[in-house]
Amino acid sequence: MPTPEPKNVSNKAAHGHAGDPCVFVIFGATGDLTKRLLMPALYNLHANKLLPDKFAIVGVSNVQMSSEDFRKQLGDQIKQFATTKVSDELWKFFDQRLSYMAGDFKDPATYQQLKSELEKIDKAQGTPGNYLFYTAVSPSFFGEIVKQLAGAELTKETDGHWRRVIIEKPFGHDLESANALNSEIAACIHENQTYRIDHYLGKETVQNIMAFRFGNGFFEPLWNNSYIDHVQITVAETVGVEERGAFYEATGALRDMVPNHILALVSLTAMEPPNSFDSEAVRDEKTKVLRAIRPLKAEDVPKWAVRGQYGPGTLDGKPVVGYRTEPHVDPKSNTETYVAMKLAIDNWRWSGVPFYLRTGKRMAARLTEIAIKFKAPPALLFRQTGVKHLEQNELILHIQPNEGISLSFSAKIPGPVVTLGGVDMSFKYDDYFHSAPAVGYETLLLDCMLGDPALFQRADTVDAGWRVVDPILDAWKATPATDFPNYGAGSWGPAAAADLLKRDGRKWRMN
Ligand code: BG6
Repeated sequence: MPTPEPKNVSNKAAHGHAGDPCVFVIFGATGDLTKRLLMPALYNLHANKLLPDKFAIVGVSNVQMSSEDFRKQLGDQIKQFATTKVSDELWKFFDQRLSYMAGDFKDPATYQQLKSELEKIDKAQGTPGNYLFYTAVSPSFFGEIVKQLAGAELTKETDGHWRRVIIEKPFGHDLESANALNSEIAACIHENQTYRIDHYLGKETVQNIMAFRFGNGFFEPLWNNSYIDHVQITVAETVGVEERGAFYEATGALRDMVPNHILALVSLTAMEPPNSFDSEAVRDEKTKVLRAIRPLKAEDVPKWAVRGQYGPGTLDGKPVVGYRTEPHVDPKSNTETYVAMKLAIDNWRWSGVPFYLRTGKRMAARLTEIAIKFKAPPALLFRQTGVKHLEQNELILHIQPNEGISLSFSAKIPGPVVTLGGVDMSFKYDDYFHSAPAVGYETLLLDCMLGDPALFQRADTVDAGWRVVDPILDAWKATPATDFPNYGAGSWGPAAAADLLKRDGRKWRMN
C-alpha cells in the first residue's frame, strides 16, 4: 500500500521540526493526567526525535517528594502507561531532565522558588528561558496559577524568549464563569501565550476533517444545504463515570462534552474554508460558524434537547450498576450522563440542515463518528421497477475506534431484475498508514512548543461554545429531570432521543 502524507504542510510541526528548547513545567505533576497522558506523549515525541535536546521537565504539586523519588515514580509509571514498550535508553533522556518541587499553588513563595529553579535549569541544561506551563490541576486553580506566574514575572516575554500556558478543560462551567476566567487570564498574559487545550483536536481523525474537506475536490461542492439532508454526530462511550463521580456530579454530560469536544467536531464539519492554515485564519472560521448556531430559546429546550441518566444494565454480557450507585454519586442524583440535541446553523450553507448531536456514558458501544446524510435522489426513474424508495447516501467520518471514512450508496444487485442494495466504499487508517500508537497529546504539546495555536481554543471560540450550551443549562436547572434514570446501561440512550429524530422523519444511525 502507498503511504501518502496526510497532514497539512503549512506549520513547523508538519515539517518535522523538534520543539523549541524549553522547560516544561507541570502543575499537578503527581496527578492522573501526568502519568496517563502527558509523560507518555512526551515519551513518544522523544522517540520520534521531536523533543529538543535542550529540554527539562519540572513537576510541581503539593505532595512532599524529592526529585529522585519523582523520577523513580515516573520511571515506573511510564512502563504502565506508554503506548509502546519503553526503552531504557530513551527513558534516560528524561531521567537526566526531570526534577520536582513541592509547593502550594496559592502561595507566592512557590513561584519565587520555581523561578530560581528555572534559572538554575536554564544554566545547567542550556534552555534559553522558554517556559511552557501546563495546568494539570483542578479548574479552580487555573486562574490562580496564571495570576501567580505573572506576579512572579514568570510569564514576561523579554530577551527573545517565550512563555506559554496550557489551560486544561473544563474552561469555566458556564458562559459567565468562562468569560470571567478569560478576563482573569487576559489581565495577566496575552492571548498568544494562552493555549486552551481540547484533546479531541489532537486526534488525527479530527485533524483530518479539514484535510478531507479542503484537500479533495469532490465533496466540498456538495457540502451544503442543496445536497445534505442532515448531520449526525455521535460520541458514545461504554465507560461509566469510574472514579470521577465527584467531578461528574458537578459537571454532567452537557458541560463535560458539548462546549468543547462536540462543538469542535461541529465547527470542523460546518466551517467555511479558511484562507490559509494560519492559526488565526482557521480559528476565525471555526468561531464564525459556532456563532451562527441558533441559541435555543428556553421554551424550545424540552423539544430540541434531551437529557438522560443511565440506570443498571448489561454491557458485554456483564451486569453494570446505574449511575446513582457509582462511587461518590448522590443516590438521588439528577446529573445527566447523556445528552442529545438538535441544532440549527443560521447561515447560507446550512440553513435548513439540522445537526443532531448526542453523547453519553455507558452506551451500547464506544463510537465517535460524524455522519453526513445526503438528500435522497428522486425515485422517478425507478417507479416501474421493484425499487420502492431510494436510500440516502451516507458519508461517515469514523473518528474512533476503527478510524477511517466510509461512503454508503446504492448499487444494482446483479441479476435480470432491477433491485438496489446498499454497498460501502471504505478507507481505514490501518490499511494505509502504519503510524505508531499515540496518546493524542503529542501534536498538541509539540505545537505549543513551536508556538502554533491553531489546534487550541481561542477566547472567543470558548465564548461562542458556551453561548450554545448556556440556554440548555439554564432550562435544565430550572426544571430538574423527573424521569431519571431513563436509559439502561448498555443501550443507545433514552427513548426521547430517538423521538427527537423521529419527529423529523429521521432516525439515528445506531439505535
Ligand atoms: C474527557 C471527558 O474530556 O473526554 C471524559 O472529561 C470523556 O468524561 C473523555 O470520557 C472522552 O475522551 P476520548 O478521547 O476517550 O473520547
